Amino acid sequence: MTIEPPLALLAELTHRCPLRCVYCSNPLALDPSGSELDEAAWKSVLDQAADMGVLQVHFSGGEPTSRKDLEALVAHADGRGLYVNLITSGVMLTEKRVAALAEAGLAHVQLGFQDSDAARGEAISGYKGGHEKKLAAAAMITGAGLALTFNAVIHRHNVARVPEMLDMAIALGAQRIEIANVQYYGWGLHNRASLMPTRDDLDRMTAFVEESRERLKGIIVIDYVIPDYYASYPKSCMGGWARRFMNVTPAGKVLPCHAAETIPGLEFDNVKDRPLADIWQNGQAFGKYRATEWMPEGCRDCDRQKIDWGGCRCQAMALTGDAANMDPVCSKSPLNAGIREIAEADAADEAADPVYRTFQHP
Ligand code: FES
Repeated sequence: MTIEPPLALLAELTHRCPLRCVYCSNPLALDPSGSELDEAAWKSVLDQAADMGVLQVHFSGGEPTSRKDLEALVAHADGRGLYVNLITSGVMLTEKRVAALAEAGLAHVQLGFQDSDAARGEAISGYKGGHEKKLAAAAMITGAGLALTFNAVIHRHNVARVPEMLDMAIALGAQRIEIANVQYYGWGLHNRASLMPTRDDLDRMTAFVEESRERLKGIIVIDYVIPDYYASYPKSCMGGWARRFMNVTPAGKVLPCHAAETIPGLEFDNVKDRPLADIWQNGQAFGKYRATEWMPEGCRDCDRQKIDWGGCRCQAMALTGDAANMDPVCSKSPLNAGIREIAEADAADEAADPVYRTFQHP
């Protein structure tokens, strides 16, 4: 089998973050700051990625602007011909920093917003004053000539304000908005009962998104991700296991996806020990669920086999206890009825209070 290089490298520069979002998708066990790769190690990762034919690098975290060497890493990636995207909460950005990042070759910023309502957004992120800082960051980003995507993470506490968030994205000069419902991994899974929207909420939101896409053609692009639990078919998670993306953790572990460490039996190599291209081609974790040979009955004979690539392995693990099972959010899975029941029970659980994420959490 010929293994094409990945399209993109997700570089998680740090797990440090001043926000405490209740839906954080990072793993339950965070990499401590002392274990982070240094600037030289990250530059080597970027060189190796460029040599492999990777086209894009997404600097994320945690909060990637916590790293003082971010500008140097952006410049290095740009110098190697990579398209450079920054995924940030924006709360640590300054005019000077944004100008330096633009000068270094940053092309695009995905700026996360928790809500259109300042108080409610700050209640979800656990960060007071964050909303104003995000608005200021958006102005700095567009002012520096950088492309802006407005990332809106949706759950039952803000689902009613999707229209206001869309208006806000347009007013801030975003070219794209990602209306992405919480995906239940990591800390988000921990808080699922307090975040899941109802089926009615979802239907209203979907109708609004469809109508808005038509109305706003040429003004803003709308990407839309529904909560998996209500989907008919699973999403093509990461574009298929070990097909399009590789993820390097702050400490240098190379993963097929950010939640892969929840799957027992996988062996993860570190960029400190093995070349990136060798890990991609021959690493045990990458080979385990690549392509179609691993697929269970039901996926193997499905005509969507190469559309959704079996869905999400981490979700199959979390919800069925075996990553090699069909993703149970697929309507063809024998376990699918149970998933709908979980979603409906969670959505009806008004007593569930979300627990904040902090960097110290195990
Ligand atoms: Fe790991 Fe979907 S998050 S395969």
